[in-house]
Parts: sequence; C-alpha cells; structure tokens
Amino acid sequence: MSVKIAPSILSADFAELGTGVEAIATADYVHFDVMDGCFVPNISIGIPVLQSIRKRTALPIDVHLMIVQPERYVDQFCDAGADLVTCHVEADTPEKIHLALDKIHAKGKKAGVVLKPNTRAEAVLPFLDKCDIVLVMTVEPGFGGQKFMPSALDKLRWLKAEREARGLSYLLEVDGGVDAATAPLCVEAGADVLVAGSAVFGAADPAAAVGALASL
Ligand code: DX5
Ligand code: ZN
Repeated sequence: MSVKIAPSILSADFAELGTGVEAIATADYVHFDVMDGCFVPNISIGIPVLQSIRKRTALPIDVHLMIVQPERYVDQFCDAGADLVTCHVEADTPEKIHLALDKIHAKGKKAGVVLKPNTRAEAVLPFLDKCDIVLVMTVEPGFGGQKFMPSALDKLRWLKAEREARGLSYLLEVDGGVDAATAPLCVEAGADVLVAGSAVFGAADPAAAVGALASL
C-alpha cells in the first residue's frame, strides 16, 4: 500500500478555504484541526467551518480534535461531515474516550485516538480494539510549522508491531513537521497516512507538493 496524504488546512488561507481544499483534490484526506484554546494554547476552526468545507470536497475529512472532553462534541462533528474523527487519549478519562469512540462508530464514521509526543505508546492499549486509526503527534499539538520530533518514530514502530501481534488493522497516521525530508523516515517506521500542513499549503503548488510527498 502506498502512503496516503492528508493535507492539514490549518496552514491554508482561512479566507480562501474552499479554494484551498479544491487545490488538494488529489490528496487522500482533508485533515481538519480543531483547537479549543484549552487542550492546546490555540483556537482554530470548528463545526460551522466543517459544514462549509464538506460542500467543497469529495475527499474524506479527517477531523483531529484537540479539545478537552471530546465526547461532548463528536456527534456534531460527525453530523457536520467528518468521515474520520480522532480524539486525544489525554483529553478525558479512559471511560469518556471509550464513549467518544463508540459515539463516532454509532454515527457510521471511523474513529481513532491520538498521542501527544510525551505520551507513552502504551496509552493506546485500552482503545486499540476500537481504533480504525492511531495518530502519532510528531510535534506538540497546537500550531503548524513546527520541527519534526524523531523520537516519535519508535512509537510508530511499536504501534506497527502491536498491530501485527494483535491481528488488528488500524492505520498509522503521523502529524507535525512532515515534509520531503521527514516523510521517508515516517514511512520507513510504518506510517500509512502523512499529515502535512506547511509542506503542502506553504508550497507554491500545493497539488505538486501532495504528489511529491505521495511518491517518496
Ligand atoms: C498541529 C496540527 C497539525 C498541523 C501540522 O497541532 O495537528 O495538523 O497543522 O502542520 P505542519 O505540517 O506544518 O507541522
Ligand atoms: Zn492535526
């Protein structure tokens, strides 16, 4: 399987988001970063913007919730057009994270968990059976354009081995500082989906940047 590309529209021009998602129509997902100013020290975009973006792209929309207590909002994000919703394991109690995953699945959408860079890989274990995807952060969540943290690569390798050992089939996604230099490291370590914000929307030709990442 070749690696999938999920451009993060956090790095797009928010005044031209429709044009932005249309420019990356050759990608595999649209990565939609939701920040609440509480779980992370930044505020981004939410449900009404997702509804508008949904009308402008046929690609699956991958919603990355960087919000506290995500279980409160997953239904609304599913109804607004998300195809895949991921919740941070650090964002609530294990019981509530389980509930969030169950609610996403009850809406017929794909669900997954996310790990911050300093969270141990083992933190996913209680949720793995329910995960369609596991997202490994390769920067501290909150901002685009940060430097890739290679320490996350061991986490990817561990998650890949655990998938084999348990006979599971979740996808492995990486997010943060992914560009032409770091993407091959992620793929080598087992990544199936690469999120890229500034490497795509900071490029003169975002479609060409998607193609370049996909061919690495
Ligand atoms: C950061 C977000 C990322 C961000 C990635 O908290 O989750 O998706 O947009 O941006 P780059 O690729 O520029 O690091
Ligand atoms: Zn993200």
